Amino acid sequence: MLLKVNASAELAGLPRLVLGGGSNILLTGDFAGVVLHMCMKGIAITGEDDHATYVKAASGENWHQFVLWTLAHGLGGLENLSLIPGSVGAAPIQNIGAYGAELKDCFHCATVLDLESGEVSSLDKAACAFGYRDSVFKQALRGRAVILDVTFALPKQWQPNLRYAELSQELAARRLDHPGAADISNAVIAIRSRKLPDPAVIGNAGSFFKNPVVPAQQRHALLERYPQLVSYAQPDGSYKLAAGWLIEQCGWKGKSLGAAGVYEKQALVLVNRGGASGQDMLNLARKIQEDVQARFGVQIEPEPVIV
Ligand code: EPU
Repeated sequence: MLLKVNASAELAGLPRLVLGGGSNILLTGDFAGVVLHMCMKGIAITGEDDHATYVKAASGENWHQFVLWTLAHGLGGLENLSLIPGSVGAAPIQNIGAYGAELKDCFHCATVLDLESGEVSSLDKAACAFGYRDSVFKQALRGRAVILDVTFALPKQWQPNLRYAELSQELAARRLDHPGAADISNAVIAIRSRKLPDPAVIGNAGSFFKNPVVPAQQRHALLERYPQLVSYAQPDGSYKLAAGWLIEQCGWKGKSLGAAGVYEKQALVLVNRGGASGQDMLNLARKIQEDVQARFGVQIEPEPVIV
């Protein structure tokens, strides 16, 4: 810990890039600065109370291996987030989410090094200001905070989270009426493997765009013109639109611009078909954004960190 604090003082003034697993980042050129690659390891149960078991993981742990560790210890709560690429320390930054769950649902606190002051502190859930693919680490603390470890509160009264239709369908197909956390993890792994490219095989950053959120009025007007529009009601009355659907309607699914392509099985995922530069990927992203804007009047925003 002390070593890290000293390092931050030595690096003062230099451009810094904090790297986790590198699976949610698009590099558009060489980085002229210092790259801090988080490699700290360690997982431990740190306590429990009537409601939860607390598990702390160092930021360099692989996210999926960590999820498997919790399941192997009989602790449910993170199973819907199985097989998400990346590291534990990167997970809170974009509040990773999938299949009806988000990291924030089980987040307890994170130990954070402030590179400006050299201070180490603990941030609780409120301080992290989690939102959809968003947190304080992408906003006020962007480029300034390094997550050293994350503690999760895994519920004692575990309940399966089967909100996501595709997940409940997968479990029904497996004839699992009362699935346990490990069953859900296996189902999520199967769905993800079918629909999303493995970044170790084909370069990608998962969903390249966030699903846009629009006012009810705008969604209503779009539905009149496009009855097949895929949308999800939000607690505040607005609607989240499936950006994959918008992109597919614009004819981009499976298409390419040079070596930068749109994945055949999921239009929200941009892939490097071999030799595409970061700039090539951005050019494709811009073209898609323009087409979605022109056709639907909806602005879609990139989700990965672009450097
Ligand atoms: N759809 C299409 N065409 C496509 C893709 C999607 O029409 O090419 C429509 C379908 O109707 C489908 C709906 O969009 O039912 C939703 O698609 P999907 O279930 O694949 O989810 P998504 O909204 O496209 C989000 C997350 C994923 C996460 C899945 C599952 C974002 C930006 N993406 O994708 O997260 O795995 O839900 O929960 O919220 C990531 O963040 O990197 C990521 C992969």
